[in-house]
Amino acid sequence: MPPMLNIGIRAVHSAADWIIRCMDQLQGIVVTEKSRNDFVTEVDRRAEQIIIESIHRAYPDHAILAEESGAQEGNEYQWIIDPLDGTTNFLHGFPQFAISVALKHKGVLEQAIIYDPLRQELFTASRGGGARLNDRRIRVSRQNSLEGALIGTGFPFRSLDRLDTYIEVFRKLTSLTAGIRRPGAAALDLAYVACGRLDGFWEYGLKQWDIAAGALLIREAGGYASDIDNDNPAIDSGDIVAGNPIIHNLLLNVIHDDANISA
Ligand code: IPD
Ligand code: CA
Ligand code: CA
Repeated sequence: MPPMLNIGIRAVHSAADWIIRCMDQLQGIVVTEKSRNDFVTEVDRRAEQIIIESIHRAYPDHAILAEESGAQEGNEYQWIIDPLDGTTNFLHGFPQFAISVALKHKGVLEQAIIYDPLRQELFTASRGGGARLNDRRIRVSRQNSLEGALIGTGFPFRSLDRLDTYIEVFRKLTSLTAGIRRPGAAALDLAYVACGRLDGFWEYGLKQWDIAAGALLIREAGGYASDIDNDNPAIDSGDIVAGNPIIHNLLLNVIHDDANISA
């Protein structure tokens, strides 16, 4: 296993221990609203600190981009960290959340880790080395039509500016597919695309820490992850479409059709 992936996994496991300990004391957790419907707790902050400290013990010069504490400058390696993806679920005791950590080198995604501490499912990928769930290699699904496909999404909940556009796509996909799921932790949704539990996924307005690890996992599992214009591999817009190659393309067609209709 690449040493940097190993260090990342160790950091993620330490943060997971902390998060699981906090689950017994949900009532006492202090919650702050960063913006409308966007919550952060001491659990997120401490988990992030644990990950950063752990990485910096091994690689003091590496740069950081983390959800709660922001950017720290460093050398050409940058770790992108979401210490608790699915905070709203966590706060409600709804058992669907994860830790997401990715490593970029000179802007290229090299390593990805998404860990579900409740199911003890560790999703990892290294660029050019494939994707894994625990010790097993994973691939995207073979689903080749929207009919029968299970699609994940995230409902808009912070800014509702594009709610109408979103609902048009949702309406169409509801009638074209076997079903739509909104589990509530985007990083884990992307990991589920990588291992074929979901055939595709779309969401508007995600951030780099939601996307980075999941995008590499999906690509290493044989799928595609792009922005909705399909022209930006870094997905800077945060508007992501992902899936196996066929479903990715079919989702883009539906989204563009409806983007035009509502424009
Ligand atoms: C959120 C979750 C959610 C998605 C949101 C994210 P957070 O992350 O991934 O599923 O719909 O867009 O912000 O805030 O819980 O880390
Ligand atoms: Ca997140
Ligand atoms: Ca988070």
